[in-house]
Amino acid sequence: MTRFKSGARTDVLIVGGGIIGLAVAWRAAQRGLRVVVVDPAHGGGAAMVAAGMLAPVTELQYGEEPLLRLGMASNERYAAFAAELEEASGLPTGYRACGTLAVALDSDDREELRELHAFHRRLGLDSTWLTGRECRRLEPMLAPGVRGGLHVADDHQVDGRRLAAALVAACERAGAVLHRAEVAELLVTADRATGARLSTGERLDAERVVLAAGPHSHLLPGLPAGVLPPVRPVKGQILRLRVPAAYRPFLSRNVRAVVRGQHLYLVPREDGELVIGATSEEQGYDTTVTAGGVYELLRDAHDLVPGITELPLVETSAGLRPGSPDNAPLLGPTALPGLVAATGHYRNGVLLTPVTADLLADYLATGVLPDLAAPFSPGRFSTGPTSFEPSPPAKALA
Ligand code: GLY
Repeated sequence: MTRFKSGARTDVLIVGGGIIGLAVAWRAAQRGLRVVVVDPAHGGGAAMVAAGMLAPVTELQYGEEPLLRLGMASNERYAAFAAELEEASGLPTGYRACGTLAVALDSDDREELRELHAFHRRLGLDSTWLTGRECRRLEPMLAPGVRGGLHVADDHQVDGRRLAAALVAACERAGAVLHRAEVAELLVTADRATGARLSTGERLDAERVVLAAGPHSHLLPGLPAGVLPPVRPVKGQILRLRVPAAYRPFLSRNVRAVVRGQHLYLVPREDGELVIGATSEEQGYDTTVTAGGVYELLRDAHDLVPGITELPLVETSAGLRPGSPDNAPLLGPTALPGLVAATGHYRNGVLLTPVTADLLADYLATGVLPDLAAPFSPGRFSTGPTSFEPSPPAKALA
């Protein structure tokens, strides 16, 4: 860990060293900015639990076309981003251009997928309708009852844990300072964010502060009321299985379905790990793995791919997605001068990492936010105070 000099001037202070904060730091450092990222454990956060699906098309929701454009822009950058990151860090990212198959288990699911396919076609997205037999030809481990599906050749995957480790190394090599500490308070002077006080008592002054603390972002002590909406935690439980060498390839691409109304996905990594996710629970900041969560994932995954019950189960875990009020990210300057948001990525944090980093680094280097980020301005929720009263002291956070 590189140390910053207490009291030294920093161009950009990033609060939160998950993949979003780290990627912004890496890109900003590449632009010549002096960057410090404060977090008690850099490279942690939601990416530790994420399956890492890069699925702007198969995860498309009606009415979310601006988010689709952002997701497509990020997906298009991913291969180059991962290659550059691997080169810069000397570490793998687990990026795998494997495509995704979304399947239907009954006739209701098939109708829903047909509608999604029609929506894809209206938007000019590349997705192909397959019969159940054609789905099983692509993925022979699928249940015989699969009724049909959509093949999306450009929805891929990356390994969130490897991505985070590579970003830590790339940041350090690019000269960004990763400071292991908790932020005790945002400092606001004359209605402008000017830095942070750390739990160690150190004070860090900065030209700009980027808030990238996921579902803790709005809880930053000192953040004036009305500047950032609540970023709520949405719990996801996930399972990791291991496919023994003799069984490979067990699955060749991401496989997903809606089972009993829940989104289910199986993400097979090149190294034999098979990730099954994820629950979606509004349980506050609780990250307990529950018997019910594990049971539902295994039951639903078994309906889809019966052979999973033969595989060793090697890990269960739970994480928190950061959801904004409209489930789209908060990107760019806030109503508080000097304070910039990069949070609220909800189900799409891994997918949106490259584009978030590029957009934020552009803004930090030039003062101009690219048009692609305009629909995601934090100002869409701002209650518009003109004089900023700091919020009362609260618990310190990363
Ligand atoms: N993007 C997958 C999830 O949030 O579960």
